Amino acid sequence: MNSNTSPIGIFDSGFGGLTVFKEIEKLLPQYDYLYLGDNARAPYGPRSFETVYHYTREAVQWFFDQGCPLVLLACNTASAKALKNIQQLDLPKMADPTRRVLGVIRPTTEVLGQFTQTGKVGVLGTSGTVRSNSYPIEMEKYWPDVEVFQQACPLWVPLIESNEHEGDGADYFVKKYLDQLFAQEKGIDTLLLGCTHYPLLLPKLKQHIPAHVTLVAQGEIVAKSLVDYLDRHPEMEARLSKGGDHRFCTTDDPLGFRKQAEVILGREIKAAGVHL
Ligand code: DGL
Repeated sequence: MNSNTSPIGIFDSGFGGLTVFKEIEKLLPQYDYLYLGDNARAPYGPRSFETVYHYTREAVQWFFDQGCPLVLLACNTASAKALKNIQQLDLPKMADPTRRVLGVIRPTTEVLGQFTQTGKVGVLGTSGTVRSNSYPIEMEKYWPDVEVFQQACPLWVPLIESNEHEGDGADYFVKKYLDQLFAQEKGIDTLLLGCTHYPLLLPKLKQHIPAHVTLVAQGEIVAKSLVDYLDRHPEMEARLSKGGDHRFCTTDDPLGFRKQAEVILGREIKAAGVHL
């Protein structure tokens, strides 16, 4: 590894970002990665703008301290509530303003409209993402003819973070929020899982969603968009280390993190505990 190069940082409040990372490592296995889950403070979804901004900024600073020149917020809540401030207010004032922080909402909205025939798209997200209105605002820019219907699903992330998402109890809350979304508009034919945790609920979601509805998860979309970003930014690409070293850190118990992450990634990993 060239000593002037460093891993790509991937951040989420907890396990959700692993659903994005899994697709990124398929498309871009040659890079080194450093994943951080802020499991000790998850979920971010119900927290205030200030709190999510503060937590996310601490995480981004941690990645910078580890040398990462590029950090992806693989978290919709952090992308919705902190990304703009970090990009516009914090980065320019930092010692190295050429480092970059990317999010998941922009790349998702760029392509989301192409999946719908009825022009009615449902977005499932955390309370924070829904309250921020980031999806309707971004969709208006790229797909002004598409109507967006949002539904907050506040209990889904806690179910996943506590590893209860495959149990019978999860069905009640899966159905509850889906019913609330389709009660807003029956013509929805495309459903975005607008939280990186939600693909872990896919088996349950498929049981409760009408067969004609297209389910869109973000992993592949964000991974393709990262490929495109690195193509368009050779100066950043040159700063990234290549060697296929994929490291995982959590702000909570590393053993618990490792066990759950291994189920999500389908392979063995090592995890380290860190404090922000
Ligand atoms: N996975 C995250 C997201 O995409 C965060 C969920 C949470 O911590 O509430 O929004």
